[in-house]
Amino acid sequence: MMETPSLDRYQRLREITLDLASTLDLGVLLNRIVHAASDLTGAQAASILLYDEAKQEMRFEAATNLEELTMRGLVVPVEGSVAGLVVQKRQPMIISDAPEDPRHYSQLEQVTHFQTRSLLVVPMITKNKVIGVLESLNKREGQFSHEDQEMLCALGAQAAVAIENARLFQQSDLISELIHELRTPLASISTAAHLLLRPEIPEEQRRRMVEVIQSETFRLSEMASSFLDLARLESGRAQFQPDVFELGPLLEETAAVMRNPANEKGLTLNLQIPGKLPVLKADRNKLKQVVLNLLSNAIKYNRPQGTITLAAFTSQDEIGFSVQDTGVGIGPESLTHMFEKFYRVPGTEEMASGTGLGLSICKRIVEAHQGTIEVESQAGAGSTFTVRLPLKENL
Ligand SMILES: Nc1ncnc2c1ncn2[C@@H]1O[C@H](COP(=O)(O)OP(=O)(O)O)[C@@H](O)[C@H]1O
Ligand SMILES: [Mg+2]
Repeated sequence: MMETPSLDRYQRLREITLDLASTLDLGVLLNRIVHAASDLTGAQAASILLYDEAKQEMRFEAATNLEELTMRGLVVPVEGSVAGLVVQKRQPMIISDAPEDPRHYSQLEQVTHFQTRSLLVVPMITKNKVIGVLESLNKREGQFSHEDQEMLCALGAQAAVAIENARLFQQSDLISELIHELRTPLASISTAAHLLLRPEIPEEQRRRMVEVIQSETFRLSEMASSFLDLARLESGRAQFQPDVFELGPLLEETAAVMRNPANEKGLTLNLQIPGKLPVLKADRNKLKQVVLNLLSNAIKYNRPQGTITLAAFTSQDEIGFSVQDTGVGIGPESLTHMFEKFYRVPGTEEMASGTGLGLSICKRIVEAHQGTIEVESQAGAGSTFTVRLPLKENL
């Protein structure tokens, strides 16, 4: 049975290609590619796996049929999978009866609840490097054809270029911001060191110089580790581990860590956790990082004798928590910038040391769980940060 190449599909491919060139946001881009792939090849689903040469594994980066969190934890070995074969051979492959085919890596199907019947996999190659594969799964009618393969190969080639551009853009952007941010602490350290070399500087002032050096080197090292966290999250290289757990104990445990630092500053930390909360499917460690950062901000930017309230709540389809403080608050002109990287409200530099990366990291983590993070604040009165996560019925 010969298919006639349909003009419609070429037309569609052309439109998609133009569309891909128009975004440098990696997440948006990957999503568009997988939807275009399933659409172009008449498949039930499509996904992108990027190739990690050092680890010899492939990681899901986008899929039309998987939720972000499930997908992020999924790894496919290069040895023993069709995706791996396609990477090694640099050739497309069609598998028409996946359950019976030993080359198909079926171990993930319990996690994804997706039954693969047929599979069309093409390499994504740019500058002679294989960066990953594009897969179409389960042809809706009949089998994947030669024409489907050609279409997907053409899309894969375009996708590879677009992905590489988006990655480069992201990196250059992030790194130039980092370099910019390094200047201030380095300048402070350098000035302090110069002054210390002068014999006429009084003892007390010397002490202050040494403290500057200490706190600024601490800040630099915080910046380095936060920056790496953020770079991993932004490039999609962060791995998410889906755990099933209760939110209450997580909040209690995190509050216990922060109680001492709070009390040392004369602050009271209150907990409000309802008795019955539904269980949550999320990456527990990463959520803990979110709670820790919000609590540490509520401590840093509070007023003397202030309070901090950590509260959990739930409704039919969501669960969440809020961190409320009685601190300096945030003016309306700053509120819209709160989740931008390196942003610090003018004037807070004097209150506490920080990098301005914590809230960007929080936002990335929450969004990887399809959740939202919001801030409400009144200057002079305090702020409330609220995190909401959708409850999934497929626990
Ligand atoms: N609870 C809060 N009250 C007032 N301002 C806050 C609060 N939390 C964060 N901010 C402001 O937002 C900025 C960014 O927060 P974050 O990204 O966590 O960075 P950092 O804690 O390193 O300063 C802070 O520098 C501060 O200006
Ligand atoms: Mg912070």
